[in-house]
Amino acid sequence: MTRRSVLTAAGLSALGVMSYTGLTRPLGNEVLTKSASGLSDRNFPRAFRAALRPLPTLAPYEVSWDEGVRVERYAVSARVGTAQILPNLPTPVIGYNGMVPGPTISVERGTRVHLRVRNKLYGVQHPEGLEHSHESGLVLSTHLHGHASLPEFDGYADDRTIPGFCKDYVYENDQPARTIWYHDHATHLTTRNVYSGLAAQYHIRDEVERALLPQGEYDVPLTLSDIMFEADGRARFDDKDHSGLWGDVILVNGQPWPVMNVKRRVYRFRLLNGSISRSYRPYLSTGDAVHMVGTDGGLMPTTQAVTTWRHAPAERYEFLVDFSRYAPGTQVRLMNSSNPKNVDFDHTNKIMAFQVTDDPVDTYDPTWRTIPTTLTGSDVMSLTPSQSVKTRYLQLKKSDVTNVWNINGTTWQDVIASGYTKVLADPALHAVEMWDLHTSSGGWFHPLHVHLVDFQIVSRNGRPPFAYERGPKDVAYVGPDEKVRVLMRFDRAGRYMVHCHNLPHEDHDMMGQFRVGLAAGAPDPHDPISAAKPWLDTYPEEL
Ligand code: C2O
Ligand code: CU
Repeated sequence: MTRRSVLTAAGLSALGVMSYTGLTRPLGNEVLTKSASGLSDRNFPRAFRAALRPLPTLAPYEVSWDEGVRVERYAVSARVGTAQILPNLPTPVIGYNGMVPGPTISVERGTRVHLRVRNKLYGVQHPEGLEHSHESGLVLSTHLHGHASLPEFDGYADDRTIPGFCKDYVYENDQPARTIWYHDHATHLTTRNVYSGLAAQYHIRDEVERALLPQGEYDVPLTLSDIMFEADGRARFDDKDHSGLWGDVILVNGQPWPVMNVKRRVYRFRLLNGSISRSYRPYLSTGDAVHMVGTDGGLMPTTQAVTTWRHAPAERYEFLVDFSRYAPGTQVRLMNSSNPKNVDFDHTNKIMAFQVTDDPVDTYDPTWRTIPTTLTGSDVMSLTPSQSVKTRYLQLKKSDVTNVWNINGTTWQDVIASGYTKVLADPALHAVEMWDLHTSSGGWFHPLHVHLVDFQIVSRNGRPPFAYERGPKDVAYVGPDEKVRVLMRFDRAGRYMVHCHNLPHEDHDMMGQFRVGLAAGAPDPHDPISAAKPWLDTYPEEL
């Protein structure tokens, strides 16, 4: 008997006379469906058993200097691998260097990085999506989310790298310290490619964060995701007619509901929601506040104490937790009370746990029990609405006619059909603009991501933003029937994407582009498809 059928039987009696429609029910966030995996009860993972695994890090294969600029060269190969997520069954994955999550890249601000992404996916296809792939295997495009890259290095969805080819992405890392991530972005394949494992963290460090926040082992990157399984341990895929993928197992750094041992001191967490569709509403089981210090684009002007927050896919929050207040032996759990329009299961109400130890604490490290209150300002947080030269309106909805997700009626298919000329907006170079993001159909939430910029959230439904989002952002959680006003400056010329980060929405087909500092039809020296082409990969296996 599978776990699903066991739970179905149990669920039926619990629900009494209610007819059983859970497995195919349209979305709501009632817990009608108890689980989504086909695992037997024996193979279904238990919460708070696995140890948290630190994310692997990547070392450069070459370091050099170019006129005073440090240059680091990295290489990753996208290839198949095997992950040990379940205690008894292996899970086939596709990862950068075969690892899931992929290896973290961490660089000092001002370092120029060349990241070579090598496509080793000959003969690999997803069960669906063949039409958008290449006959020889999966197509890739790599986006460094949260970095102001040149258009040709921004992972434009149709800047395709086919199997046997590689591309060098060049990143200047000249923005303030931040927690960002690189992930696949190929047209119509992004959901499958990322769900298979093509995602990893990337950190820019600087003096400012070093002076304020815990470092080294007390600076802990966490990547959150959700997954469901077939009975044999393979990942199960179901995006519910492109509305969303909702797993019943929550992973942190690739382990189900892990436990981390902590000392009695302050820790810094960099929490990335790498889920395909699921948003979270984390809170500590003790009811205590966390101290939010960073948002998508780095440090906030001032620390914000919050007991819970909404955390959409692709958003990053950095926060401090003071474990010095708990007795050794205490288990502090990070729980999830979810948000409207998620599909929740029996165990999606929890994320991970922290086990407080009595290991000695180095009290000479000034960060051991310091929660700084003033952090740092930034260009984007200093912008004021009076600087805006244009207000635009982006409506996020599903077409009543075609049933396709879109922005202002436009889809990525329309962009393709226009020869990549169609745009949703055309800001002048260095212009400050205000965009109103509005969800208007079906009461959905859409995490709207604008490439290139950091933005400031000016208001939500005419009211101030939440305390935890008063920092530089690149994803706005646009909840059901919400209107979010964001303010930003466009400081690089070229074409960049804007899309929903619920990946099935993005793929089908809630994505458009904007064009900065170029007249319609003008030649584009940074054409995102032709300015820096992939080339045949003839490098040795290991770089
Ligand atoms: Cu994280 Cu355009 O994506
Ligand atoms: Cu969406």
